[in-house]
Order: sequence, then structure tokens, then C-alpha cells
Amino acid sequence: MTADLVSVLSGARVMPVLTVPSAATAGPLAEALAEGGARCAEVTFRTPAAEQAVRAMAAHGGLVVGAGTVLSAEQAERAVAAGARFVVSPGFDEQVVAACRELDVPVVPGIATATELMRCLRAGVDTVKLFPAEPLGGLRTLQALAAPFPGARFVPTGGIGADRLSDYLGHPAVLAVGGSWMATPAHLERAAYPEIRRLTAEAVKRSTTWERSSTWERSST
Ligand code: 3PG
Repeated sequence: MTADLVSVLSGARVMPVLTVPSAATAGPLAEALAEGGARCAEVTFRTPAAEQAVRAMAAHGGLVVGAGTVLSAEQAERAVAAGARFVVSPGFDEQVVAACRELDVPVVPGIATATELMRCLRAGVDTVKLFPAEPLGGLRTLQALAAPFPGARFVPTGGIGADRLSDYLGHPAVLAVGGSWMATPAHLERAAYPEIRRLTAEAVKRSTTWERSSTWERSST
């Protein structure tokens, strides 16, 4: 991973994860997120509009836009051609990682176990998405996984809401937290852009006001 994405994520601290239903949604969505103070966003390849949404949101200019739910090298290529500046995957796939390296774009693979994390580190990737973070056990699991791997950095995602954001950000191995709560499919369906802007602003505010908890010393489990 290039230093560039690390600085984007550690500067942003919170990353909206988006499932965009139509290309027409992308412009106003990018506007609402940027107005709310988001610095980056992940557009999941879960809808036919994903590629166009990446293109439109990247063109907006106010956000560093990446592609998520990237499951194959071919999808990674399409995402990057559309303007994705980074690639996120729910799991670790050598071909996706190799394609991203070829494309010279940072990749954040998903991991749920120590074995998967070791595979990522061996492949030269040290920033991973802990997914699905809350069903896996949340912070306690993150703490236990982080302890043996001092070089690993995490973007926990999955089941996290505003209420848990500060807790995750208090862990020193967490670069940023991802989640869909700021702009859910339901928000997008009813074009609830003011609400998206409000939830994003609230998350950004929380992400800048957390206090590091002494509970989360990296070296202890
Ligand atoms: C993802 O793809 O990263 C997750 O689906 C986002 O998780 P959340 O919807 O539980 O926030």
C-alpha cells in the first residue's frame, strides 16, 4: 500500500461505504458526503451502477473515491479505469492483490482470521479491512488480532454505527472505520441527502473528538 492511502485513511478516520442504486444518485451523494466533511468514500461493486458511480463521484473532486466489494482482478481493473483511487475487498484474494499491484493502486483486503492476516502480510499488504467487524466480536477480536502483528493496520467495517465509532478509533492499530450507516441504501432510495449530510457530519465530529482509551494498549490482549 502506498503511503498516500494510509495518510488519506488516517486523516479521514471514517469512511462511508456506499451501495449506489443509480448513476444519477452519485453526484448529489458525493455533494452531501463532502459537505458533511467526509474525505473519502468506498463505492461497493454490488450494483450495476457501481462503475458509473465511481466515475461520477471521482469527478466531483471533493472526495478520494475507492471501489469496494471488489471480488476479481477484472473488477479491480474496471474500478481503477473508472477512477477508483483504492480498492477494498471483503476477503483476501491473491489475484485481486496482484492486479492492484500491477495497476499501482492501493488495496485493502478483508480479513477475519490471523491466518488471513498472515497471508496479507506475506503478500506485502499491511493495511486490512477487519470484516465483518462486529459479528466477528468487534473490538475484542480486533485487539486480539492486532497484538501479534505490530505492523498491521486495520479498517474495521461491518455492523459498526456512530455509537461504536469512537471506541474503534481509540485503538492504535485502527486507521479508519468504514460503514454504511451514514448513507444506507434506504437513505439513497428516498434521496435523503440532508440526512446523509447530517449523519456524515456527526460521524466526522465524533471521529475528531474521541479520546484514546488506556484499555487498548497494542501489546496486551
Ligand atoms: C462493507 O461492505 O464493507 C459492509 O457491508 C459495510 O458494513 P455495514 O453495512 O455493516 O456498515
